[in-house]
Amino acid sequence: MTAPGSGHESGRGPRREDVGARLSFDRGEPGRRAVDVPNWTGEQTPLPDSQLLRESLRLPELSQGELVRYYTALSARNYGIDSGTYPLGSCTMKYNPKVNDLITGLPGFTDAHPQAREEDVQGTLRTLLELRRGLAEVTGLPHVSLAPAAGAQGELAGVLMITAALEDRGELDSRRRILVPDSAHGTNPATAAMAGYTVTHLPTAEDGSLDRATIERELDETVAGVMVTVPNTLGLWENGIEEVADLIHEAGAYLYADGANLNAIMGRVRYGDLGFDVAHLNLHKSFSTPHGGGGPGSGPVCCSEELAPYLPAPVLQESGDGTVRLVTPERSIGRMQQFHGNVGVLLRAYAYLRALGLDGLRAVSGQAVLNANYLRELLHGHYDLPYDRPVLHEVVFSGSHQRREHDVRTYDIAKRLIDHGFHPPTVYFPLIVPEALMIEPTETEPPEAIEALAEALIAIAEEAASDPDALRGAPWTAPIGRLDETTAARRPVLVWQDPNREGA
Ligand SMILES: Cc1ncc(COP(=O)(O)O)c(C=O)c1O
Repeated sequence: MTAPGSGHESGRGPRREDVGARLSFDRGEPGRRAVDVPNWTGEQTPLPDSQLLRESLRLPELSQGELVRYYTALSARNYGIDSGTYPLGSCTMKYNPKVNDLITGLPGFTDAHPQAREEDVQGTLRTLLELRRGLAEVTGLPHVSLAPAAGAQGELAGVLMITAALEDRGELDSRRRILVPDSAHGTNPATAAMAGYTVTHLPTAEDGSLDRATIERELDETVAGVMVTVPNTLGLWENGIEEVADLIHEAGAYLYADGANLNAIMGRVRYGDLGFDVAHLNLHKSFSTPHGGGGPGSGPVCCSEELAPYLPAPVLQESGDGTVRLVTPERSIGRMQQFHGNVGVLLRAYAYLRALGLDGLRAVSGQAVLNANYLRELLHGHYDLPYDRPVLHEVVFSGSHQRREHDVRTYDIAKRLIDHGFHPPTVYFPLIVPEALMIEPTETEPPEAIEALAEALIAIAEEAASDPDALRGAPWTAPIGRLDETTAARRPVLVWQDPNREGA
């Protein structure tokens, strides 16, 4: 297949060595060193033979310049939010102010030991207490534990709290079902199943909201809770959620909010006011820590008065003398992990919250919604929109037309986007949208970046008709093209092979 428009096929100009292509082990010369350590002239204390390393241990032998160039070349192969638009839906990757990293890196925070006495880390504890109060205000749920280390762990905490409350009500044996919409993130049904419940899937109605008739039919005395994502993973507002909350409470069940998409509504709508009993937040999506790469997260769980006694430990509390204490609520589900949560992520969230204030948060959610709708408008008519109504933080297109008419998959569209200099969006999620392309521009992308992304996606849609092979073979410009993903995982080849060598 030729590489259309990739630049690779031009063959013009001298060939430059791709410094990042070979592993450090396959470079350099015996005897080269990155750092020269002067010979030791003092008394020699040789290691006992038994502690010597293998003689044949092969280490890269590179000069310092080679080493720096090698790692610089490798770093340039990375694509991150600091390189360009990163439109993953459901795994929000937005620009986060660097000052939040600086604040989190202050020695008073980084030097604190997790086992330090509470008296010695009052500054950190008070900062976290203020964050706790801020999150309670933003969610309208007055009680908060900052302990869970990810969204999924926050979900587990919330569902275990519901379990403990039902146990105290003497209804745990009868309430064995949790209802979850079919558009939910996979962690929702997985959490409910892990906590020992049977999961009943709720179908999505034509307008992208929960199907009211099914909820009414399913709600009975066997239901422990309902997990609803607000806004949902289609980027849509759940129409009639307040009435659904009333129905759920009348049936004696609890309403759980997956608050991972809070960035679309913060400063405007509060889970507590909508009737939710418990919610988790993904601070690493909404509050200033990059998400998506598997880095550290934080999923605080926030709840009503009724569920407060079951919160996971520790919970921050101000005592009468003004000191801040870490306490275990009286009927706590226990600890989700050792120590106090991912404090670095919590501190970034605090800095973000304080820098913005309520007006700033409102501006963030407004801009996130505006950007998603701008993109939706620009791409209208170029990709199918199965749920065609104004969106909140993200928009879910479908590549069904391209699949049907040109035998091009969403996977191919995503790969071709790499040639245009963008990170691909989330694909094939939510599961209810065939050939799903889920895009979240976030509030930090300027209009020109959204227009450039739309232009690239429109060019790709046109190319799907005129030259579908250009998509099927993409990416053409990335250092690595398409891998056989199964073979790459099962039989990885980790040494550099000269592509010009015969038989390579
Ligand atoms: C809607 C939704 N719920 C839950 C999660 C799970 O969060 P985490 O990956 O932190 O476990 C995510 C992940 O981004 C999500 O998008």
